[in-house]
Amino acid sequence: MTDAPEYIPGLAGVPAARSSICLIDGSVGKLQYRGYPIEVLAERCSYEEVAYLLVFGRLPTTTQLDEFRNQMIAERGLKFRIIDLLKTLPESGEPMDALTAAVAAMGMFYKGDHISDPEFLRLSVIRLLAKVPTIVAAWDRIRKGDDPIKPSTELGHAANFLYMLEGKVPTSLAVKVFDVALILHAEHSMNASTFTARVTGSTLTDPYAVVASAIGSLAGPLHGGANEQVLSTLDGISDRSANGIRRWAEDRLARKEKVMGFGHRVYKVKDPRATILQGLATQLFAKFGSTPEYDVAVELETQMADLVGGKGIYPNVDFYSGIVYQKLGIPTDLFTPIFAISRVAGWLAHLLEQLEGNRIFRPTQIWVGEADRAFVSMDERS
Ligand code: ACO
Repeated sequence: MTDAPEYIPGLAGVPAARSSICLIDGSVGKLQYRGYPIEVLAERCSYEEVAYLLVFGRLPTTTQLDEFRNQMIAERGLKFRIIDLLKTLPESGEPMDALTAAVAAMGMFYKGDHISDPEFLRLSVIRLLAKVPTIVAAWDRIRKGDDPIKPSTELGHAANFLYMLEGKVPTSLAVKVFDVALILHAEHSMNASTFTARVTGSTLTDPYAVVASAIGSLAGPLHGGANEQVLSTLDGISDRSANGIRRWAEDRLARKEKVMGFGHRVYKVKDPRATILQGLATQLFAKFGSTPEYDVAVELETQMADLVGGKGIYPNVDFYSGIVYQKLGIPTDLFTPIFAISRVAGWLAHLLEQLEGNRIFRPTQIWVGEADRAFVSMDERS
């Protein structure tokens, strides 16, 4: 028997692909999509432009972007049977589960010849980018007993989603803030859900199954689900003085409990997306007033830096996103589905890259069980 390879829990630091989609240097908080700094993309682009960049690998010309936008607008609607499917689900269920179910079902309505057909792939990309927001908004309406709102053919991607929630055209500041939030969440290299997408894609299954599996992975509290828990964490701090917040953090750390919205496998400084989201929060507050959660968050960030900054534990993207979404009037349990609305672009970019030089994922394992055991018949077992 050859020597067993080293086991690396969580595959930390093990390269799973060669990629040119997202560059991160966690030691200095650097994040780039296709080589463009996130700060520039957040300031200068729309989500549609960034999605095009991620999926096709280059910034679009005006004509290319118009065509891409129009194709997405044409694909925003849902088949009535997908809406019927959502209506059969329990209204108390998790929105991420409803989204997984509806996206998986899409594969039955949009069957292609094969994933190797470029036209089928291109159409699948457009459909998934366009319809995932519609599913999330439709589910939110259906569970409340309301009819889904038909997507607009006039509004941009971010504005249309906010419009489909309540039927009101959002303010330009709300649209800008939400659009940037979508850009910031669109891609982040080999995180759990993206790895899931690549593994599923490597089997040459259809893109709807790829995205459905990635959504399931994103739902967990250690990944996308953390953004929903940050607000309840902040609300759970009863003494909101600096001393009270410090004591709360010390108690939590002493019990070895994680503080949601802090820490990252890759970043050992403040996540650059958290910095941008914090800036967006202050823009919203300047216009619409601050929230108690924000003040607690800022103090908690200060105290945590003092307590665990030395271990490289700083706010991640989820720390300020919930505060921003709350101010936009979005229900807390839609925060993770909104992450999925945005991350679809990254998952699809990785699927296309995976297919370029595909080899099915098949890692190995380290056997720790007993081998060659003598079978025990039922009447002799204790
Ligand atoms: N609060 C307190 N301590 C923390 C935190 C935290 N949020 N995160 C890490 N630590 C500590 C751990 O207790 C551990 O300490 P130890 O060495 O003394 O035992 C050390 O830092 C390393 O932590 P791991 O969990 O091993 O780090 P890993 O890289 O595996 O996990 C993760 C990263 C999952 C993000 C982790 O930091 C965490 O659970 N954070 C809270 C959940 C969260 O915010 N998730 C969102 C991440 S961003 C995203 O997915 C979009």
